Amino acid sequence: MNRRPVITIDGPAGAGKSTISRLLAERLSFIYLDTGALYRAVALRLRSQGWDGREDRLAALCRNIRVEMRKVGDRLRVFTEGDDVTEKIRSEEIGLQASRVSAVPAVREMLLSVQREAAAGGGVVAEGRDMGSVVFPDAEVKFFLDASVEERAKRRYLELTAKGDAVRQRDIEEDLLLRDRQDRGRSIAPLVCPPDAVIIDSTDKTISQVVDIMLSAINKSGHLCRLHNKYP
Ligand code: DC
Repeated sequence: MNRRPVITIDGPAGAGKSTISRLLAERLSFIYLDTGALYRAVALRLRSQGWDGREDRLAALCRNIRVEMRKVGDRLRVFTEGDDVTEKIRSEEIGLQASRVSAVPAVREMLLSVQREAAAGGGVVAEGRDMGSVVFPDAEVKFFLDASVEERAKRRYLELTAKGDAVRQRDIEEDLLLRDRQDRGRSIAPLVCPPDAVIIDSTDKTISQVVDIMLSAINKSGHLCRLHNKYP
């Protein structure tokens, strides 16, 4: 089969997955698939429906939620009920809610097919928590990107304050620890490092160092060379 490769990047919140996945996708001329955005879109929609936090109501509410990825230009954007919510979902509050709703089987089931359809043609860098373990277990190359919680909180703090958000680094660190516990501790598709993943600790590395490590691992894997030219 001549499918273009699927590359997965899993890891905890704030490890640099989004920036690095986007850059890697650009370098390879692949599509960047941000699966956290789907969980965030569900959380946003549930908030607008006045969800009271009761998990037993979620399965019924999910039946009425439509989340999809649409290609706009060369990027995938997230839509709920026809609205482009790609930017609206980027707050810390929605991230925390997304982590809560992502533990609910009905939500994960609904989003499984959305993710697989988005990657059906291959040529995708898929980023999330269960990419290599559950959604794309046959992915050609898998990465697990980690960093210390202090470093992750510092990066997120700088990112949010640059946007003008009034946040405290200590609060961000506490939110990250809570999300780590929720994402690693849930019974369905928890955040794990797939056994066949290349593990990268980005604590003391720059973004471009991590991207270079990934490109060299992808080249070594042979998948890119066999199907395409090497990356430029
Ligand atoms: O990557 P992110 O911060 O945008 O993700 C938000 C939440 O969504 C995350 O805390 C857990 C959940 N998530 C998930 O359970 N599985 C994924 N593949 C991606 C995200």
